[in-house]
Amino acid sequence: MTKLNINGNDIHTELSADTPLLWLLRDELKLTATKFGCGLGQCGACTVHVNGQAVRSCITPIASLSGQTIETMEHVNTELMTALKRQWQVHNVPQCGYCQVGQLMTASSLLNQNQQPSIHEIEQAMSGNICRCGTYGRIKTAILQTAE
Ligand code: FES
Repeated sequence: MTKLNINGNDIHTELSADTPLLWLLRDELKLTATKFGCGLGQCGACTVHVNGQAVRSCITPIASLSGQTIETMEHVNTELMTALKRQWQVHNVPQCGYCQVGQLMTASSLLNQNQQPSIHEIEQAMSGNICRCGTYGRIKTAILQTAE
């Protein structure tokens, strides 16, 4: 059995220790804000926070997360996330929208650690979050405006 803390709740699961966190979130807990994209750690659609850091849940085995604080979009109601979402709306960032939760989770992790990131730092932090619609420019603008 693995014990985890997800969105402020203690979770006990009988899933095997090497089960990726994303499977537990979506299939067992029905926390479907976090998306499956590539399943290989390469697209960022599955990004969640572990102790406030952006982590790819599709390649993170649940056994590695015991004692860690896991948060998904369903639970991140910080002022920062609200401000980011507002700028996402102002700049009409999403197109199809599929990757945007992962984008926001990575962006909020960045701004938690660095309140005034440079464009280069934003590009670096966001470089692992792929968007098939190519919303990168709008994402960058929204992050910069949130940081102001
Ligand atoms: Fe996890 Fe693509 S689904 S990085």
